[in-house]
Amino acid sequence: MNTDSFKAMIVKEDNGKYIREIGNKNIADLPEGEVLIKVKYSSLNYKDALSAIGNKGVTRNYPHTPGIDAAGVVESSDNHLIKPGDQVVVTGYDLGMNTSGGFGQYIRVPAAWVVKLPEKLTLKESMIYGTAGFTASLSLYKMESLGLAPTGNEVLVTGASGGVGSMAVAILSKAGYNVVAATGKPGKEEYFRKLGAKSVIHRDDVNDTGGKPMLKGRWQAVIDTVGGNILATAIKSTRRHGLVAVCGLTLSPEFNTTVFPFLLREVCLIGIDSAECPMTDRAKIWNKISNEWRLETLADIYTECSLEELDNKIDLILNGKISGRTVVNLEL
Ligand SMILES: NC(=O)c1ccc[n+]([C@@H]2O[C@H](COP(=O)([O-])OP(=O)(O)OC[C@H]3O[C@@H](n4cnc5c(N)ncnc54)[C@H](OP(=O)(O)O)[C@@H]3O)[C@@H](O)[C@H]2O)c1
Repeated sequence: MNTDSFKAMIVKEDNGKYIREIGNKNIADLPEGEVLIKVKYSSLNYKDALSAIGNKGVTRNYPHTPGIDAAGVVESSDNHLIKPGDQVVVTGYDLGMNTSGGFGQYIRVPAAWVVKLPEKLTLKESMIYGTAGFTASLSLYKMESLGLAPTGNEVLVTGASGGVGSMAVAILSKAGYNVVAATGKPGKEEYFRKLGAKSVIHRDDVNDTGGKPMLKGRWQAVIDTVGGNILATAIKSTRRHGLVAVCGLTLSPEFNTTVFPFLLREVCLIGIDSAECPMTDRAKIWNKISNEWRLETLADIYTECSLEELDNKIDLILNGKISGRTVVNLEL
């Protein structure tokens, strides 16, 4: 391997099938951009798995290297605010979608995507949070900007054992909320208690099939990562003036609702798009992550793997079988 080549996961299209392999790429083949970063850690998100199986809504052109998250050290920079040797984090924007991503040892990106590593975090810790932790934090940040504050009433997290879900349980708990974790995985009580959840319920308990337009108001707020009928159920079970943050679609992108929860209880539905979060908010949220929302429970939330071990993890996340976060160590 010469000095201009580096190791990466490469997803190739072959007669409509998508094949993942670990191979070599050249720095010269990376897209244009002001900042070249040597990636030390990345992380696995659901979107990466979609990119890795040829989902054209995520990635249009192959061969491609997924990885919407990357943390590393600046190798070279054409921007005067970002210097070689700086430790930086990139999450979202087009990284790993149609821009070669963090599942490779180098990325080259626009300076506008680059966040300086928050002072109190290591590169690895920033990737334990990654897009999942940032999305959970963005959800809480937006809800608190609309007046949410801990009252002791229950806050629901759906898809709670997943990346966004686990982060949401832990960060809401750290911020003083009474968190109820809804999960499809049996036997996870101890895990959720460690993250700070006050109760754990089965996802079937928040998947109403009775068809009533309203149910008893229980949730002060909801962070929903699954969509579909679970989101519809959450909306009609939310208390007066409650807030529902819509983050994900692992169950379904579609849901049926009526206007009644909005007209009769002023429930507020909040859209979450972490990828395009403006830099001013982005910096404020990373600051909260590294200060008042900093988790003592990070070690309980993640497992670490090499690029070579990632292939199997991608299959697991697609089947809803991963708990918490998976950090990818690019130097293993
Ligand atoms: N809006 C944004 O900016 C943003 C950012 C990041 C992620 N997302 C989206 O958020 C979602 C979660 O992402 P992630 O990376 O956290 O994925 P993940 O780690 O795979 O977590 C998803 C969780 O959803 C639950 N689940 C899986 N299949 C389900 C089903 N059929 N019915 C109900 N629940 C099911 C599982 O939790 P339990 O077993 O505990 O129920 C699973 O662990 C994805 O749709 C992703 O695209 C959005």
